[in-house]
Amino acid sequence: MAKNRAWIIGASQSLGAHFATRMAAEGWAVTGLGRRPAAEAGLPAEVTYVQADLSVPETLDGLAEKLGDVPELVVYNAVRYPAQSEGPPPLGELEAVFRVNALAPYRLLLDLLGRPREHFCSCVVVNSDAMYHAREQNGVYSASKAALRVLTGTLAATCRGGDAAVSTLLVGPLADPQKLAGLRRVAEQRGVTEAEVVRAFLRKTNTNLVIDALIDFESCYQGLMHMARLGPVANGMMYRLDGGSSGGLV
Ligand SMILES: NC(=O)c1ccc[n+]([C@@H]2O[C@H](COP(=O)([O-])OP(=O)(O)OC[C@H]3O[C@@H](n4cnc5c(N)ncnc54)[C@H](OP(=O)(O)O)[C@@H]3O)[C@@H](O)[C@H]2O)c1
Repeated sequence: MAKNRAWIIGASQSLGAHFATRMAAEGWAVTGLGRRPAAEAGLPAEVTYVQADLSVPETLDGLAEKLGDVPELVVYNAVRYPAQSEGPPPLGELEAVFRVNALAPYRLLLDLLGRPREHFCSCVVVNSDAMYHAREQNGVYSASKAALRVLTGTLAATCRGGDAAVSTLLVGPLADPQKLAGLRRVAEQRGVTEAEVVRAFLRKTNTNLVIDALIDFESCYQGLMHMARLGPVANGMMYRLDGGSSGGLV
């Protein structure tokens, strides 16, 4: 029997690498895209890796065709966090952030959904709780994710009653290796448990959330698979995995 195919855009580390690795282990034919060279991605050999820089406008031309036939599942997980700089951020950096976080997924999925196919295609866009909060330090990132949310909605509108679904996996602070390493260092310095440091971190940095632990990758993967299994019912839906209370406690 032919394998189900998946594209994971932003697969070279962290959450995207977890998705690609898990899906390959579950028997999916996975194509992962990242910016770094294949040798630095550390993905299993059965994942087909494509190196491309989504911040370069020309990359998008024909990318949907280059990645192969329309798959059963597409996950847009890539993100560019704005580079920290002294003074106002250069315009080029702002453009690159919006390109990777909002314009590239819109254009890629628009191209993909315009192609003929004989099977259902689920598209899941990874978004962030940050889209609701423009804080001093993360306004550009938040704005790019809010733009992504609006564009995802318009893509879902084009799929209405059709053979594809576009949905959002909205996550909160992830248990990513970099964050975990930083929190572990703090716990060691203070002589307290990691769980205590995580709790204090979340209460300080995410006052709008009601979670005491970071969101683990496997829960994100289970949410992703749930949306993929729902098929057309998932169109336009948002699977929120962030400890948010939809405003009820804010
Ligand atoms: N981390 C969190 O706490 C958190 C919280 C809420 C939501 N999220 C969302 O969860 C998703 C994953 O976040 P993450 O923190 O795991 O991200 P990450 O570790 O920074 O990984 C981002 C991925 O996107 C790829 N990427 C970045 N710029 C690219 C470019 N110009 N061209 C091609 N690929 C590019 C990276 O490839 P290279 O590394 O090879 O450049 C990498 O594979 C994102 O959508 C993010 O907004 C994360």
